[in-house]
This record gives sequence, C-alpha cells and structure tokens, in this order.
Amino acid sequence: MAEKSIDLNIGFLKSKLPEIVKSQTGKEIENLKFIGGGSYGKVFRAEMDGAPVALKTYHVKGSQNAEAEQLRTLRANTSVPMPEVIFTYEDNDISLLAMSFIGGKNVLNPVFLLKSGEKKAAFARQVVDGMSEWHCVTNGKFGSLSNPAYDTWFEYYTETMRNPWLRGLSALAEKGKFSKNSLELLLEASELFDGIYTEPDRAVLIHGDLNIMNIMAAPESFALTGFIDPCGSCFADREYDLFQLRNMWGDAFGLYETYKSKHTLSKYADFKVVCYAAMNEASMRLRGGLIFPLWEALNFNRLKHETEKIKNEYR
Ligand SMILES: Nc1ncnc2c1ncn2[C@@H]1O[C@H](COP(=O)(O)OP(=O)(O)O)[C@@H](O)[C@H]1O
Ligand SMILES: [Mg+2]
Repeated sequence: MAEKSIDLNIGFLKSKLPEIVKSQTGKEIENLKFIGGGSYGKVFRAEMDGAPVALKTYHVKGSQNAEAEQLRTLRANTSVPMPEVIFTYEDNDISLLAMSFIGGKNVLNPVFLLKSGEKKAAFARQVVDGMSEWHCVTNGKFGSLSNPAYDTWFEYYTETMRNPWLRGLSALAEKGKFSKNSLELLLEASELFDGIYTEPDRAVLIHGDLNIMNIMAAPESFALTGFIDPCGSCFADREYDLFQLRNMWGDAFGLYETYKSKHTLSKYADFKVVCYAAMNEASMRLRGGLIFPLWEALNFNRLKHETEKIKNEYR
C-alpha cells in the first residue's frame, strides 16, 4: 500500500506556500491559485518575479525528489519544453516541488477533440518526435534512473512491478476487493506474455506516464507546448512508454499509431502494450492511485481482444 499519506487541504496549503517559497528562494509570490490535482497531489500556480511558477504538493513524502530527478533527466534529453526544477522542500505537513510553468492546457481538455484531423496529426507528430528523443538515450542496464542494475527488461519489469502487483491483486481478489475474472485474465495474459516475449536490443530512457493529461498544448493552434509529470521514468523497453499514449482518449489523436508509423516495434507489440496498460491500471489500487472504472474496463477489453488474437495464432 501507499506510504504515509498527507492530507492536502487547499486552504492550509495556500496559507503555507508563500512562506515556504520565501524561505527557499528569498522571493515573494503573487496570485497564488489552485489549478488542479490528479492522483498524486495538488498543483498551484503563482507568479514569482513576474513569471508563472507551478507549485506541486504530494500525498506521499519524498515524491517531490523522485519527480525532480526524473524531470531533470527528461528535460535534458528532449527539445520539447519541460518544467525546470526551482527547488524541492519537505516538512511534516508538506512535500513540495516548485518548478517553472508550462503554458497551454493539458490535452485532456475537450477543446482539443474538436480540432481538425490535420491539426491532430501535426500534434501527434510533435509528441512522438519529442518522445523519440528520449528513446534514443540508451543505457547498458535496465532499471531506475539512479541505479539501473538489471541486465534484462524482463527481469526488471517482472520482479519489481508485474509479479508483486499480481501477488497484491490476488490477495485483494481473495478478499473480494478485485474482480476474480480480471485477475484470471491478467494471469492468463502474463503467461502468454512470457511465451512471446523477446528482449529489446537496448535499454532507453522513458517518461513512464506520457498520457494526454501530462501533455500540454496551445488551445488555439493545438501546438505542443510541453510535457509534464513523469512517473516511473527509468531505463526500459521503449514499448513500455507507449501504453500511456492510448490512455483516456489518446487514440482520438492517433498518438500510438503515429509512434508505430515512425518506428518498427517488436512482433507482438500491440499485445505487450495492452498487457502493460492493464497491469498498470489494475496496480493503481495497490499504489494509492485513483481508479477510473471506465479506463480500466477499456483496458481490460483491449487485453481480452489481444489475448484472444495471440491464442488463436498458437491454436
Ligand atoms: N509545471 C507545470 N506547468 C503548468 N501546469 C502544470 C504544471 N504541473 C502541473 N500542471 C497542471 O496541473 C495538472 C496536474 O499536475 P500533474 O503534475 O499532472 O499532477 P498528477 O501527478 O496529480 O497527475 C496538470 O494536468 C496540469 O494541468
Ligand atoms: Mg498528471
């Protein structure tokens, strides 16, 4: 389960943030306002020296340091704008990352669904080109940014993510807190995954959470304005970076298809990517993340479909 969870009260945070920023930078902030929050924290916008900054607070202590490390590495390796870390801070009540502000709106905003096919395609190319720059950064081993220690992605993925998640989900299913059908499907798909798996030829830098909520664009032109919010950035099989492209309504912009049109993937990439997606989505209930039943159902339907395809091929 998640570590100690900090209660994020917006009023309390608003009263504390100005003094924390002052203590860390010597500067005053103005026009502080709450702008949103996803599964992991709450985010505020403010102005410092006339420039906008983002102040992100977390439920789980230490998250600010992990995100800062990931942002620094990713920002240095793509030409797409990303937040620059200003400082990180932690006390008993607050875990905070202060960073530069990325303009535009996150692409979950329905305004982008109304754009022309041409604009959507141009946007998808910008996203894929920026992401591909990370996928050119190679490493001798797979694993975390600070200590990549695994010779194979298979070992890293199954030992640190998939297998512990499957054990956790089995325990939940025993208690009636996770669907047994879903668990069975995950177990069946995992067995097939192990059968078709081939090791990627190299470990590459991935963002880990590049879904449309973490991609920012200009509401008028639909030009890409930045990438934000890495989670689980590491040295990985680059196909592990692709399932988030399809999350929510990523397919409405053809993000995954555009990536596939520019890169040759492994033979069973579609199956692998849905396995990664469904495992990740299900594991949210073990990791304190939010669960969106609609997305989970979509992921499991895709998994069922791709699993049947693989089974038919082997029949
Ligand atoms: N550096 C930033 N610049 C501009 N907007 C940001 C920034 N960081 C976060 N946001 C806004 O806040 C929302 C939630 O932040 P995010 O870092 O994605 O949090 P979570 O980890 O909870 O998903 C984003 O979708 C975005 O709209
Ligand atoms: Mg986010």
